[in-house]
Amino acid sequence: MRFETKLIHAGQKPDEKTGSVNVPIYQTSTFKQDAVGKDRGWTYSRSSNPTRKALEDCVASLECAESAYAFASGMAAETAVLSLLRPGERLIASCDIYGGTYRLVEKVLKPNGIKVLYLDLSKPSNLERIKLPFSMVWLETPSNPLLKICDIKRIALFCQKNKAILSVDNTFATPFFQNPLLLGADICVHSSTKYLAGHSDIIGGVVAVKSKKLAKKIKFQQNACGAVPGPWDCWLTLRGIKTLALRMKKHQENAFAVADFLKLRKEVSKVFFTGLKEHKGYYAALKQMRGHCGIVSFEIKGGEKSAKKFLSSLNLFSLADSLGGVESLANYPRVQTHGFLTEKQRMKLGITPGLIRLSCGIEDISDILYDLKKSFEKLK
Ligand SMILES: Cc1ncc(COP(=O)(O)O)c(C=O)c1O
Repeated sequence: MRFETKLIHAGQKPDEKTGSVNVPIYQTSTFKQDAVGKDRGWTYSRSSNPTRKALEDCVASLECAESAYAFASGMAAETAVLSLLRPGERLIASCDIYGGTYRLVEKVLKPNGIKVLYLDLSKPSNLERIKLPFSMVWLETPSNPLLKICDIKRIALFCQKNKAILSVDNTFATPFFQNPLLLGADICVHSSTKYLAGHSDIIGGVVAVKSKKLAKKIKFQQNACGAVPGPWDCWLTLRGIKTLALRMKKHQENAFAVADFLKLRKEVSKVFFTGLKEHKGYYAALKQMRGHCGIVSFEIKGGEKSAKKFLSSLNLFSLADSLGGVESLANYPRVQTHGFLTEKQRMKLGITPGLIRLSCGIEDISDILYDLKKSFEKLK
C-alpha cells in the first residue's frame, strides 16, 4: 500500500464479525477466557486491546517500523524509551529539546543516576568529536520552537559505530514528511496529541521501533508501567490519522503563506520556517524531509511587551499550549513550552522575549493572514 492508502487501511480491516468498516471501540478492561490458560488473543486491556492494536499497527506501517506501541501521552511514550537507560549510562540529548522532555531528563533521569550531556546536534560534528561512552542519543527534528534540523542519517551512522540507540522525536514532521527509521534511527517517538490525531481532542503518544529486540523492551515497558491510552482515544487518533496527508498538505501551504507574510512585516525581525531558503536548516531539511509542517516561529520587535500585546490581540488564533491541530494556535515559548528553563538557558537557546510560535491550522489562508495583520496593526 502507498502512504495515503495506509492512512485509511493499515491495521484497520473491516470488522470480521459485523463488517463495520471502522475499527470498533473495544471499551473493555478485560476479556472472557474460554478456559484457564485459553484466551482468544486478548486478556486485559493494559496488556493489549484491539482498538489500540489497530492504531499501533497503523503507525508501525506509516513509520516503516517493526512495530509500534501507543501510550497515554507523548511524555509517557518518551518515558518508556528513556527507561531503557540504566544508572551510570550516558544520554546525549539535543540542547533544544521540548521543555517537557528537558524536565523529564533533569528531574527524573538525572536523579536516577543517568548521565546527561546536551549538545547542539544540528551540527553533527559536535557529536562526532565526543570521546565519552554513551548509550543513547535523543533528538527532535525539526525542533520545538526554532525548527532546527539534525542530519538523522549522519547521526545514525555515528550511533551505530558506538553501539548506541538513536531516538528521534518525529512529532513535527510526521511520517507524511519524514521517516526517521528509514534514515537509520532505531526509535521514533510521537506526541500523537499533535498532527497524528490532528484535532486537539486527545492526549497521546506512540513509540515505533526498528528491531524485534527493541519491540520486546518497549512492549514490556508499556505493560509493566501501564501508561496506556484508552480505546476511545485510540479510535479518535485513528480517525484523525485517516486525513493526515490532506491536513499536512494544507498545513504546509498555509505555513508557506504565513512565513512569506511575516518576512515582509516591519514589526518582525526573524522568521523561522523550514521551508524558507534562508532558514539555517533548509538544505538539511531538503535532504531528509518530503515537506514542511505548519509551524512558523518569529521574533517580534519590542520583546515581551510587543509579544504579549500581539498574542492578546489575536482572534482566530487561540493562545494555547499545543500545536498540530486543524485550528490555528499561537504560543509564547518563553512562558509556555519552555517555562521550565531558566532565563539564561532560554536566551542561550534563542528563546527570546520576542519569540512567538504559530501552529498554522487548515482554515482559509485569507482569514489567517487577516488575523495576523490586525494584531500587528494593534501594536501601533
Ligand atoms: C516535540 C514534542 N514532543 C513531545 C511532547 C510531549 O507530548 P504530550 O504533550 O502529548 O505528552 C510535545 C508536547 O508539546 C512536543 O512538542
